[in-house]
Order: sequence, then structure tokens, then C-alpha cells
Amino acid sequence: MLHPAKRRGFAFYNACLYDLNMVSTSEIRNKYLEFFKSKGHTIIPSASLIPENDPTVLFTTAGMHPLVPYFLGETHPGGSRVTSAQKCIRTGDIDEVGDVTHLTFFEMLGNWSFGDYFKNEAIEMSFEFLTQKEWLGLDSRLIAVSVFQGDEDAPFDDEAFEKWKSLGIPEQRIAKLPKKNNWWGPAGETGPCGPDTEMFFWTGNPGEVPESFNDDNPLWVEIWNDVFMQYFKNTEGTFEPLKQKNVDTGMGLERVVAILNGVDVYAIDTFAPVIQKIELLTGKKYGDGDVDTRSIRIIADHIRAATFILGDNRGMAPSNIGQGYVLRRIIRRAIRYAKLLGFHKEFTAETAEVVIEMCSDVYPELKNNKDVIINELSAEEKKFSAALDKGLKEFGKLTSVDGKSAFDLYQSYGFPIELTEELSLERGFVIDKKLFEEEFKKHQDLSRTSSAGVFKGGLADNSVEVTKYHTTTHLLHQALRDVLGPHVEQRGSNLTAERLRFDFSHNAKMTDEEIKNVERIVNENIKKDLPVSFEMLSIEDAKKSGAIGLFEEKYEKLGNKIKVYSIGDYSKEICGGPHVEHTGEIGGITIQKEEAVSAGVRRIRAVLNS
Ligand code: ALA
Repeated sequence: MLHPAKRRGFAFYNACLYDLNMVSTSEIRNKYLEFFKSKGHTIIPSASLIPENDPTVLFTTAGMHPLVPYFLGETHPGGSRVTSAQKCIRTGDIDEVGDVTHLTFFEMLGNWSFGDYFKNEAIEMSFEFLTQKEWLGLDSRLIAVSVFQGDEDAPFDDEAFEKWKSLGIPEQRIAKLPKKNNWWGPAGETGPCGPDTEMFFWTGNPGEVPESFNDDNPLWVEIWNDVFMQYFKNTEGTFEPLKQKNVDTGMGLERVVAILNGVDVYAIDTFAPVIQKIELLTGKKYGDGDVDTRSIRIIADHIRAATFILGDNRGMAPSNIGQGYVLRRIIRRAIRYAKLLGFHKEFTAETAEVVIEMCSDVYPELKNNKDVIINELSAEEKKFSAALDKGLKEFGKLTSVDGKSAFDLYQSYGFPIELTEELSLERGFVIDKKLFEEEFKKHQDLSRTSSAGVFKGGLADNSVEVTKYHTTTHLLHQALRDVLGPHVEQRGSNLTAERLRFDFSHNAKMTDEEIKNVERIVNENIKKDLPVSFEMLSIEDAKKSGAIGLFEEKYEKLGNKIKVYSIGDYSKEICGGPHVEHTGEIGGITIQKEEAVSAGVRRIRAVLNS
């Protein structure tokens, strides 16, 4: 494999912090995928950052996210062992971004077993990949692990404990920890979950590695998590053993590359040029004092995350709700940190160009969506920059902040609530976040975004209501094509137990008559009580059958069979499920709203008739 720096030509890198002898991100990504391929796993492409049909989270926060149906028994077209590098966004740790390990956007390497191998084999493979020379070659004397200690819901994980011991990890390096540390899922009330075992690497002086492991010591850095999904938390809150035992693992790619190079995450090959660009633009020196260094890191992290969100094939524009709000918040936060550096010119688009240049080989959607990325960033920066200076002046005059002044700052100067909160903390004001949120909620729909729960990892909500909405989106998709034409393609879908939201490509506002027609066609097909069924087809056969859906993004590389759902003879679409059995179960729907999302993309909001 050619070193990325060499592939792109030395000149580009010459001016960077990046050392050509460093282990590169693509080398480690490829090694991981190759290793698991050699262990019988199918390599699957990264899914979108914007989850489909999962109302519990705004973004894909882990590699397992797009795979939830397969833990519950759906057949994966790649078989029972798969592996991927998945694009992830986590905003729960946003306050920690700027330290040496936390990032908003990162890639998660993972391997999965859907009812195939379990604890022993998973741990063996993890250990082999971590320690063998041809793979990561980490010194096993610098590795520690933790396992689930057991509680009233589930017993101590002695199987994992014994396995690690048998591999030579001394007992004092195997911490037994509670659910808080060593348990994953469910994010919602119910769903698959289980104990996990985490792997840590000593990043301090190797000669000073402590004999025993203590997870409070920040020099032990978590590098991998193997989750054993063996329970299902039911509505009574009890943990039933799952019929199908699954493995879900996650390794932060940037973090591992940093550790292998003995540097922080901002010095690795995919980050250093971004930092360098910000240095060049702002004239500030990275490494000169904590404030500047942290600010430069935050700007680099946030612009990189914003570039990936905007550049996603299901990408979102900045807005005041949902993913768009998070995007707006991180772009505005980056701009504020640039001002903290004393920099008042535009910088976001130029910085994003470096990210696009760095990452488009692996994520070509960035290059393909470059215009959108650049235009949206520039527009948001223009909108916010001038107001920010004035708003900061206004803020400086305040002697305290309550819900009303927070809202005024938002309305007059576009300060996201989190920015006001952050400024308040810096000024030592006592704030009541609840009051802020209540005031905001009075004025708009921020409740989903600002509730912390929505940012944490999550499993799909398979409630009856959501399933009904899911089947409805298939009917809606086909009905829109019937009424508007075959150019209509799904661009996004977001379901909750209360409503569906469906984004699709179309260039004009729908007329009232078109909306009525679509609604009528969907309801007629619901009345017909059509049977819903699926078949497994090769990609070629699925295409021949006229099935619609996102072929390329998810399935093209699997070379295997995919699942195609049919609703009577009316709709045929590739999809992982789940769906109702007969359309009659849906009852009926009403389209409440049709609006623009971005250029050429419209959104429909519809509810079930109660
Ligand atoms: N889903 C697990 C995690 O994100 C592997 O840590």
C-alpha cells in the first residue's frame, strides 16, 4: 500500500506538522478490514451519518447503528460476520473536544457477529489484532482490560475474565466494573444489550506502567470495546437472554492511529494539514499556549465534522431543528473560537477544502458534494459573523443571564443556547439550563435536539407505531413517483412514534392537488389491506425487478443478496425492515406539511389518523 503522503506528492505535506514516517490512517483502516476479512468477515461500506428510520438518535454514533435489525434476527446480505469503518458523529462529548482524544467526527472500526462467534473468539481476535507484529503489534505488557462485574440484572462476566487471563493478561490488569462502565445499550427503554469488555493501552512512559489497572488514570486510554449482545431489555425492565447472541465491537480509528504514533489525535495525517491551514489563515501558532492550541483544535474538529455532515449523501443544511441545528451549532462554535483567536475574516470554506482534499479517496461523497459544503459554510459564516461581534458586546453588558436574555441573544444574534451557556460559565454566571430550555421551547421545536438523550448511542425504536410509519414511507415513496414522476428519490427519512418525515428529490413546491392525490393513493393502498413480504435477491435481480431504493450506497460492494420488500403489487423497495404484515394495520394517514429542505429536496410530514 502506498503511503498517502507519497501518493499525494510531498509538496502538499511538506508544510505540515505531519511526519512522513508516521503510521497513516488509511494503513490502519485497511489493516483492520483485511484482518477481519481473513477471519471470514464481509467488508461493508460505511452507512450515512444520518440514520434511517431510527428516531432515537440524530446521528450515527457507532458502527452498530445501521446494523440493529440484524441483531434482532434479520438476515444481513453480507452473512453472519461483517466488518466496516463507519463515519460517526458524537456531540455528547463536545465539551471534551480540544483535549488529546475526543473528536466530534470520527471513524469507528468494527466487527460484528450476528449469532455467529461469541465471547471467546471475539476476544481472541481482538487480542491477535492488537498484539501480533503483522497487525498493530502493540506490546501486550502495556494492555489492560475491564469486564462486567455483575449485578442484580446479569452475572459477573467470568467467561470474558477467564479468556483474558488465558491470553496472559495478569489479573490485576483486568478490572471488574459496573454497568456504568461495562455495559452497552439499549439507549431507548427496550432493546438488545449486554456486558462489554474494554481494552486500554498505556500511553505513559513504558517503563512506568503500573502493575494494576485503574481507569481513573488518563494515561490508560481506551482503544476498543467488545460488546456481547446477549440480553434483551423488555418493557418490564428485566433482561431476558436473547436467542441470537451477537458481538458488536468499536475501535476509534483516529485514536488508535494517534497511539501508534505516540502523538495526540490532532497530529495524525488526516488532521495535521487542517491544523496547519488554520495556523496559516489565523497567523496563530499551534502549541503556543493552551488557549490558542485548544481553540485551533476545536476549530479543526468542528469544521471537519461540519464538512462530513454537509457532504453526506443524506446531508443536512444548517437549520434550527434536529441535525441541522447541531450542524449550525458546531459551525457557529468554530467561528466563535476563531474570534477568540482574534481572527475576524472568513475561514470555514478554505479550511473545509483541506478536509475534502484529505478524505475524498475514502469518502468520495465529500468531493461530489463539494459545492454544497463550501456554499453552506460560507452562507452560515456570513450570517453569523457580524451578529456575533455585536452579540458578544451585548453579552458583555449583562450581569446575569436568565431564560429571557438567553432567548433574546438567540433571536437577535443567532446565539445557539449552548453558546450562551458556555459564555455564561466563562463569566461565572449561575445558570439554570431548564429555564433556558423552557423559554426556547415556548418559541420553537428544540426539545429533541437539546435533550441529552438524543445524542447518546441508541438502538432503533421498533415500536408498533414506528413500524406502521415505516411501511407508510414505502407507500408514500411510490405514490410520490406516481404523481410527480420517476425523478423522485428518497433523500432521507426520520420516524418517531408520533409522525413520519420523508425527504425526496423534487424541484418545485407541490401543489395542493398533488398533495391530495398522494395522500389519496397512500390511503387507498392502506384500505386494500395489501400483504407485505420480502425476498432475498441478487443486486442484479433486484434492479431487474424494478425495486427502488438506495442500491449503491449500502449494498453494491457486498456482491451478495439483498432484501427487497413488496407491498402487494404496488411497491417494491430494498430495505432492511421491519414492516407491518398487512397495510390495513396502518389505518390511514394525513399529510400535514410539505416544505423545502434544501435546493431540489422537499420534505413531507405525515401522521397516522387516530
Ligand atoms: N457499540 C460499541 C461502542 O460504540 C462497540 O463502543
